[in-house]
Formats: sequence, structure tokens, C-alpha cells
Amino acid sequence: MKLIHTSKLASYASALQALNEDGRLRRMRPRAGIDFVSNDYLALANAPRMKKAIWTALDAGTPIGAGGSRLLRGNCEEHEKLETEAARFFGADAALFFGSGYVANFSVLTTLPQRGDLLVLDSLVHASIHEGARAGRADFRISRHNDPLSVESRIRDWRAKGGRGRVWIVAESLYSMDGDFGPLEDLVEIADRHDAFVMVDEAHATGVYGQLGRGLTAPYEGRENLVVVHTCGKALGAVGALVTASGVLADFMVNRCRPFIFATAPSPLMAVAVREALMILQDEPERQERLSKLVAFTHQQMRLRGERNTSCSQIIPYIIGDNIRAMRLASALQARGFDIRGIRPPTVPAGTARLRISLTLNVGEAHVRAMLDALNEQARGWSR
Ligand SMILES: Cc1ncc(COP(=O)(O)O)c(C=O)c1O
Repeated sequence: MKLIHTSKLASYASALQALNEDGRLRRMRPRAGIDFVSNDYLALANAPRMKKAIWTALDAGTPIGAGGSRLLRGNCEEHEKLETEAARFFGADAALFFGSGYVANFSVLTTLPQRGDLLVLDSLVHASIHEGARAGRADFRISRHNDPLSVESRIRDWRAKGGRGRVWIVAESLYSMDGDFGPLEDLVEIADRHDAFVMVDEAHATGVYGQLGRGLTAPYEGRENLVVVHTCGKALGAVGALVTASGVLADFMVNRCRPFIFATAPSPLMAVAVREALMILQDEPERQERLSKLVAFTHQQMRLRGERNTSCSQIIPYIIGDNIRAMRLASALQARGFDIRGIRPPTVPAGTARLRISLTLNVGEAHVRAMLDALNEQARGWSR
């Protein structure tokens, strides 16, 4: 790292130096190697049908930029068509399209929960949810990961101390770094018992789980106490997020949500791409089936090789613990042609640095076998 001596930059430089010494300095790398890292679960990011939809829209005169916010000139027919289709597809009253999942989570949490309300966040929810909770008006507490009893005890403690407002239970349906599922049925039951709302981030489940990829919240969609964030940059192969909710909450967001009101609307071309992705989910259910077979194959191969694997899904954490060793193992696999990345704190809890192995339709069984062989050879002799 280049040493910077000017006083204005010294504190930034020394923070970077400290990260480097702790094995946590982040750098962007070009994409290279066989994809065991992306969230392009259904291989839609490069699908000919997605590209054709964009070309056709361009030919028909769809602009690249929306040219304004949704409440002004930026509200395009493509956004409205996407939202109508998304509400129908997911079985919700209404859907709103945001520029990213990060912004959608932040937006919901800074708009819907009110002063005097309580948010109960699972300890492993995404950074955007923590940021939304911190920036919002409601109180918040953290519950133990995937522990409904802990959620309920946070609610009871808060009520016992005089909390009077509405409770919002916030969870993911599939956790992005551990690959385990949230206990949605229990959370919905707790919400009903406490007259609470449930907000579910479906980032890694949309397109992959549920009938035709409607996600794991599909059985509960249409309930007035449910808000769901379906991101579009992962299995849907595009970018953005669809927030599904009751019509009243969607209208409230349109009127009060600052990132929705005071930002240029997402590109109408992206709305076209996301709508096409929803069509592909319905026309080509074999993508979902192929991914599910690849996931089952990989888990079975790991079992046969005696690898410890706590995941139930396409996201497989390979815990190393130490930051530097995790990054070294990732580099060794990259040098052998596998694009696998190390994930370190604060993205994951301290002491749990890991490889995050992601399965997508960009690879087949032969790739998986070769990757597991390489992983086994590289990791052999290391105590994990
Ligand atoms: C669980 C979860 N929620 C939200 C996001 C943010 O979504 P986006 O990448 O669309 O901003 C991510 C992205 O990594 C995620 O993993």
C-alpha cells in the first residue's frame, strides 16, 4: 500500500493499514475463473431472453434513463407494468420497484415503522437492514439468530418496560452468509399473537424457492401485516428490488419514503429486464429444478467427502475462522481457476471468516466435483 503522509489523509491511511494488518483490507478484483461466487443463481444475468427484451424495448423507444423521480416525469409505463406483474406474480396487493435491495430495505425501515414502535432484528440480517433500523424512528433490539423464543422475549421485555407501539419482526428467508432458512412460520405466528408486522428480506430465495420461484413468503403473501423485499440483482439476473405489501402501505411509501420520492427512478430498461425475468420463472421452471438438483448433488458430494456442511441451500459457508487463512485459501482456489471469495468480519461475525461458496446454473456437476477436489487438496493439513 502506498504510504500517504499528508495530515488530511493520515487517519484514513492508518485505518487502511490497520485493516491490512488484521487481514481485512478489501480490494476489488476483476472477475475471472469458474463462478462459485455470484448470486446469479438461475444464470439469467446473461440469458438471451433477457437481452432480447432489452433490445426490443430500446427499439421501441424505451429511454435509458427515467429522467426524474417516480412522482415527477420519471414514472414510466415500464415501471408500472413491472409492478402490476410483480404484485400478481407474488400474490401481493401491491409492489413498488426500487433501485437496489439495499435501498429497498433501508427505505422500508426508515418509512413504515414509526416513533414508539419496536423493530426486532435477527442478529444475522443484512447490513442494509441494520442501517435502516439505525436511521429510522423506531427502537430496535437484536434477537438471537433463528430463535423465535428470543424474538418473543425481546417483545415481552420491551412491553414490560412500557413499549406501547407496533412491533416489526425483521428476518431473512434465506441467510446470505450461512445458507440457512429463517423460521417464517414461527415468526408469522408470533406476529399474529402480538399484533405485529413481519418484514422479510427474500434476497437469496426469490426465484430459487417457492412455487415457480415466488419465494418462501409465498404462503403468507396478501396478509396485511407482511412486507417483503424481493431483490432483482440475484436470481432475477438484473438489478433493483420489488417491495410487496398491502396497497395502503405501498401508498404510504409513495407519499413518505424519501429514497423513493427524492431520487431518479430506476432505468425503465431495468424494469423491462426484471419483468422478463418474472416471465422466465413462469415459462422455464426447469431452471429452478436444475438448481435444486445441483444443490442436492453438491451437498451429497460434501457428505461423501466427510466435509462439515451446515447449509441447506445454494449458499455454502466453508468456515475457516482466521481472516488471513480464509483469504489465502480463497487465493489458492482462484489460482486454480475457481472464483471463490473469502468473507471476513464485519460481514460475518468475528472469528468466522469463511469461503462463501455459491451454486448457480453457471456451473455443472463436473465443475462442482473439480472445485471440491481442489478445496480438499488445498485445505488438507489445515485445522479448520
Ligand atoms: C440479504 C440481502 N439483502 C439485501 C441485499 C442488497 O441487495 P442489492 O444487492 O440488490 O442491493 C443483499 C445483497 O448482498 C443481501 O444479501
